[in-house]
Amino acid sequence: MRLEGRVALITGAARGLGFTMAETLAKEGAAVVVNDLDGQLVEEAVTALRDKGAKADGFAANVTNKEQVISMVDHVMNTFGRLDILVNNAGGALRTPKKLEDITEEDWDLVLDVNLKGTFLVSQAAVPVMKEQGGSIINLSSIGGRTASIVTGVSYAAAKAGVVGFTRRLAKEVGPYGIRVNAIAPGLVLSGERLQETWDHMPEGEQAEVLDAIPLRRLGSIQEMANAITFLASGDSSYMTGSVLDVNGGRFMG
Ligand SMILES: NC(=O)c1ccc[n+]([C@@H]2O[C@H](COP(=O)([O-])OP(=O)(O)OC[C@H]3O[C@@H](n4cnc5c(N)ncnc54)[C@H](O)[C@@H]3O)[C@@H](O)[C@H]2O)c1
Repeated sequence: MRLEGRVALITGAARGLGFTMAETLAKEGAAVVVNDLDGQLVEEAVTALRDKGAKADGFAANVTNKEQVISMVDHVMNTFGRLDILVNNAGGALRTPKKLEDITEEDWDLVLDVNLKGTFLVSQAAVPVMKEQGGSIINLSSIGGRTASIVTGVSYAAAKAGVVGFTRRLAKEVGPYGIRVNAIAPGLVLSGERLQETWDHMPEGEQAEVLDAIPLRRLGSIQEMANAITFLASGDSSYMTGSVLDVNGGRFMG
């Protein structure tokens, strides 16, 4: 087990990619703290993880709210006494429109706030703790922030490209403290019912267009994204910081 004795906080982890990340980090021996917006969903996720033998805890908080974020990191410290791994996973297009003319100012703010400001606030709360012991911060960018994707729109592209800049600059700043900061940029993954539905109802030809652009000719799995996170969380990537792993079947080669 590569993460025995480590403590991981994963934001937006009650479902989707985040939940499988928590499950996978726990299988490698880490104690995991699940964050999400809804307390009930967080509790259900924690119960599911504990039922599988994981050392798990949860904390409901909105990653865009500084006070809640600080309380969350305090909770991790009070519960497990350390924080080694932070996965800034909360985010997504958050049901906002893709086309420029359809995006409201509120849509724009929501996408930028959750994906980018949330990543900033949680990292800012975690770094002082990690400075004492070192750590690994892993941010969720996206293929939508690495190249022009037909699947997502401009606000998401801006937020996820911002995550890349944030990752590199923070890596430079905290590297001397033994804190590594990396990102993964997944291609499209059918991580929940909504995305599955969107995929199933894609206009004729668009599905084929997406798959044809992927050299491996298939979408990635949730587990494949969690495996990349585990690699960046563990000592296997000990000399990597400021990098972005493009986990996308070759769709974009950075
Ligand atoms: N699924 C994909 O194809 C894909 C591709 C590239 C990148 N990503 C990124 O991976 C991450 C996870 O994606 P997913 O598909 O599992 O999404 P998801 O919608 O299934 O899960 C995201 C979780 O974040 C939570 N969340 C939303 N706003 C929050 C907030 N303010 N505070 C705390 N939690 C909040 C949601 O409640 C949800 O449980 C996102 O950052 C997404 O942009 C996903």
